[in-house]
Amino acid sequence: MLSFDQNKLLIASHNEGKISEFRELLNFSDLCIVSSKELGLIEPIEDGNTFEANALIKAKSGCELSGLTTLSDDSGLEVDALGGDPGIYSARWAGPDKDFDYAMKEVNRLLEEKKIAEEKRTARFICALCLYRTNGDYLFFVGKVEGKIVWPPRGNYGFGYDAIFKPDDRFETFGELTSTEKHSWSREKIGLSHRARAFDKFVKFLINTEN
Ligand code: IMP
Repeated sequence: MLSFDQNKLLIASHNEGKISEFRELLNFSDLCIVSSKELGLIEPIEDGNTFEANALIKAKSGCELSGLTTLSDDSGLEVDALGGDPGIYSARWAGPDKDFDYAMKEVNRLLEEKKIAEEKRTARFICALCLYRTNGDYLFFVGKVEGKIVWPPRGNYGFGYDAIFKPDDRFETFGELTSTEKHSWSREKIGLSHRARAFDKFVKFLINTEN
């Protein structure tokens, strides 16, 4: 198993939801999890052009400021008929008030405007995790889940764009699936989500790597 300085892993995030999800996911290990928020680290400007580039900016900054091995993530929704939008701008489409009802309506409005048929509303959630080590080495673990945009929104679980994303091979949207089905992780069963899939790759790397 990969070893860590002081047995600590920094989660480069100020988002409480994300931090607690990572803590839960890393329950199986004896790692001490700390976050940028707890350490009061400044947030870097995310001006990369890809999910990986933004994850790298966050992980590098967290590692350099804390001196700890750092894990970050960047994620979002890509809609094919919108040229991949909202993509890396998924959070920004909701504006400063984080109004995801508005952002979901905007996705639907643009699909309607372009007269995109239901079966052509293909989309995917992507999550890029970046592990940045104190020697400057870094690695990405990317998870994707393919699906379609549906309208109207369905379900009260989850967050962000969950209520308009229906993963392939399921009748329910992410908003109708429980958090266990959506993004839990155990050695026996991996949740459906992009984050659970990326996390699975990260855990396999942790377990199979010495130093
Ligand atoms: P980040 O915190 O910069 O990675 O922003 C990710 C944004 O993508 C979030 O604010 C959500 O809008 C969207 N997003 C990412 N993952 C999910 C998900 O699992 N469900 C719904 N929306 C998501």
